[in-house]
Amino acid sequence: MDYARLIEQALNARKQAYTPYSGFQVGAALLTKSGKIYTGCNIENAAYTPTNCAERTAFFKAVSEGEREFEAIAIVGGAKEAEYLDFCPPCGVCRQVMMEFCKPSEFQIILGRSKEEYKIYTLEELLPLGFGPAQLQ
Ligand code: THU
Repeated sequence: MDYARLIEQALNARKQAYTPYSGFQVGAALLTKSGKIYTGCNIENAAYTPTNCAERTAFFKAVSEGEREFEAIAIVGGAKEAEYLDFCPPCGVCRQVMMEFCKPSEFQIILGRSKEEYKIYTLEELLPLGFGPAQLQ
């Protein structure tokens, strides 16, 4: 898969971010093994804790549509007014949600600053020794 295209979708999804409290806007684009893309943005809440990250929005949209197998996710984020984006690593809760559905040694996490500038990590690199479904078998 062309990661520039996945990042482009994440950048587009970021435009929908609802962030009246932090002003920090995140977009994600999740690629399924069958080649479909589900996007997500962060959605904040006046009570703060119900806030949903962009990555989890994408995962929950996909899983609620019956998807269970994922290849990669592109993530972009930064302050609303930022001229240039820095790399935006996923929070611990989102890494744990990835752990539920993705193979840690294979799932690719693409952190993008732009379509041209990105870094690729596996889930295993960002969540070493993660607790997942295998532990409960
Ligand atoms: N946020 C995400 O959407 N994804 C992450 O992985 C990190 C944090 C959001 C949550 C909140 O709306 C804002 O960024 C600031 O924490």
